[in-house]
Amino acid sequence: MDALTISAAEASVALSIRNLSHGFIAPDGRIRPVLDGLTLEIAAGEMVSIVGRSGAGKTTLFNLISGLISPADGRIEIGAQREGGEREDGAGFVAYMLQKDLLLPWRTVLQNALLGIELRGAVTARHRANATAMLERYGLGAHLDAYPAALSGGQRQRVALTRTLLIEPSILLLDEPFSALDYETRLMLEDDVMALRSDRGINVILVTHDIEEAIAMGDRVVVLGGRPGRIVEDIPIRLTTHGRRDPANAREAPEFRAYHRRLWAALKGTAEAPETTKTPETAKMSETTVPEI
Ligand SMILES: Nc1ncnc2c1ncn2[C@@H]1O[C@H](COP(=O)(O)OP(=O)(O)OP(=O)(O)O)[C@@H](O)[C@H]1O
Ligand SMILES: [Mg+2]
Repeated sequence: MDALTISAAEASVALSIRNLSHGFIAPDGRIRPVLDGLTLEIAAGEMVSIVGRSGAGKTTLFNLISGLISPADGRIEIGAQREGGEREDGAGFVAYMLQKDLLLPWRTVLQNALLGIELRGAVTARHRANATAMLERYGLGAHLDAYPAALSGGQRQRVALTRTLLIEPSILLLDEPFSALDYETRLMLEDDVMALRSDRGINVILVTHDIEEAIAMGDRVVVLGGRPGRIVEDIPIRLTTHGRRDPANAREAPEFRAYHRRLWAALKGTAEAPETTKTPETAKMSETTVPEI
């Protein structure tokens, strides 16, 4: 089956994932399932946060959505399509900011930021001006000609985010994009991403280990859990804020703590799941013996 199927999804659906299953071959040669029958639909303009313990399959899900890897089973449909099968301009265009920033060490900050544009065509003066303005806004104005090796982790992450945002996708996949940032910068970038959604209708899917960030930014928070991974909770977030919801006032909403408690409980409920690639012998042992530490 195709990894990425741009097909006749309803116009109001930005991303439709049906019965998605995937696994990897373990060192013992057996297939170790990572995702099992995962179904998820994201409406146009919606912003969805995904949380789940380490190893739950979040990055694997993004690799599948972006087409980097092909699913063992299931369907991924992205964007709307005109009647007759022709793809709408810009529909279904996915940008993916990887968990690792993967800046090219031989390119400067500005050249790295422009890489996504360059791969899609000619870089114009307007692209250069946009990239410079965004890098300046992220405190990198003095580092445009510096090389990645001279940057801190947070600075590198900001360059990678600039590179991702500059290509103006219709779906933006962010895999823990703010984890190396100080709190103030983090709030600023969270706000920028939320503004992209409200100003340009870009769909954002955010993977984060930070429950507060997931609630503050998401219209929904999806909890990925179990082994193999599946959706154990899908919680719509409704926050009462003064004025436009932003990452700071969202955290002060009266409903915030209740969502936090619910998500924390859901995540704790997924923590105990053991590996599933046990042989009958090891399965029996683990039920009857206390492992040596
Ligand atoms: N290319 C691969 N080959 C073999 N196993 C893999 C591969 N990629 C991922 N896995 C395994 O699949 C499982 C899910 O990995 P994944 O990276 O999707 O988790 P994650 O939820 O993103 O975790 P984290 O929060 O730590 O980033 C892990 O057990 C991982 O070891
Ligand atoms: Mg990951």
